[in-house]
Amino acid sequence: MRQPLVIANWKLNGDLELAKAFAERWSSLASKVAICPPAVFLSDCKRLFPHLVLGAQNCSAEQSGAFTGELSADMLASAGADYVLIGHSERRALFHESDALVARKVEAAQNAGVIPVLCVGETLEQRQAGAEASVIIAQLEAGLAQADLSRLVIAYEPVWAIGTGETASPDQAQEIHALIRGWLKQRNASLAESIQLLYGGSVKPANAGELFEQQDIDGGLIGGASLDVEQFEAICKAVQDK
Ligand code: PGA
Repeated sequence: MRQPLVIANWKLNGDLELAKAFAERWSSLASKVAICPPAVFLSDCKRLFPHLVLGAQNCSAEQSGAFTGELSADMLASAGADYVLIGHSERRALFHESDALVARKVEAAQNAGVIPVLCVGETLEQRQAGAEASVIIAQLEAGLAQADLSRLVIAYEPVWAIGTGETASPDQAQEIHALIRGWLKQRNASLAESIQLLYGGSVKPANAGELFEQQDIDGGLIGGASLDVEQFEAICKAVQDK
């Protein structure tokens, strides 16, 4: 069956000291864990703490060329990234990433041997309009148009729950995870059972247990609470009890 997975998304935070704190506690972060520090720290993290599993927070859709400021998936892989977050709602909203661009990034990551963590989620307005299911399906259809489903993680992150202290209820989260699993089943029934689906959005030690108990929630994508090793460890313990 599916292995639990908890991914730390440090966003524009953290440093090598925080990586060291994670490295020292790694063996007690019992579930399968990856940390996504700012990309500039990846290679130092890999060199200083080779046992860490690392991810990047974004990658270019391009392999090389005149794209000032960009980092290719190959470069991130050589810096130590095994995973890359793609289509995080902050990238979609603040950096205007379209579904088409997200799809190209998923493909670029897979071509570089990096596992894409495709992030999907509806805004508050979309949920209030009852459009969450159609929004998620549209993001899956577009983002995974060219994807190899055998090397993929999907994170459901309702935009209204990210960094707000509001979490989806376990039932709300499970409903969308089941929707995503159902969509995957239509594409490939056997692979659908093995794809890890993570929930993200204000996951804290206090709510992690009831979220991770849900049948189709295989772990979490953790922002704020991943900047505190003790909180992150408590969240990892909750997924281990699953
Ligand atoms: P949060 O962020 O845990 O701070 O809500 C989650 C995310 O953005 O991945």
